[in-house]
Amino acid sequence: MKIFSENIEDLRTLYIANLKKALDMEQKITKALPTMIEKSTDQQLATAFRNHLEETEGHVTKVESLLRDATGEASTATCKVIGSLVTEAEDGIKDASDPNIRDITLIGAAQQVEHHEIAVYGTLRSWAELLGNDQAASTLESILEQEKNADKLLSTISDSVNTAAEKKNAFTTTAAAR
Ligand SMILES: [Fe+2]
Repeated sequence: MKIFSENIEDLRTLYIANLKKALDMEQKITKALPTMIEKSTDQQLATAFRNHLEETEGHVTKVESLLRDATGEASTATCKVIGSLVTEAEDGIKDASDPNIRDITLIGAAQQVEHHEIAVYGTLRSWAELLGNDQAASTLESILEQEKNADKLLSTISDSVNTAAEKKNAFTTTAAAR
């Protein structure tokens, strides 16, 4: 994409507005993850959430420093998407009484959050590049990589949790048929 010099200020405004939303998003994720850890039955899943909570705290710090560099302060703007995703996740957990189904629900909810974060950071990194801010672009790229890795790990864990759920289901079905 080509950006013309007269549009730079508009892009800078857009970039900062979205960084503020990213900060709100990360802060909300640090609040949601402890419940997700607590509700996980699968130990691998609980550990993945615990590690991602640490990473997310790092994302908060990184986005705060990008905002301070750009504006002199680290203020937030409401990210409406994350609020809805957290509500969806809470509803899903409430409805899932079976531990395997709850784990599967948690993984699905977490991956929806990751995919949103991947979109947010991919966009912010591109905008930082267009604005000629290489340092910010590389910080955003490092966050993006951690989000992508978290998503991949969730896919791997989902395979083993799904297999466990399938086995349990087969066992229950066989037992019921006896
Ligand atoms: Fe994050």
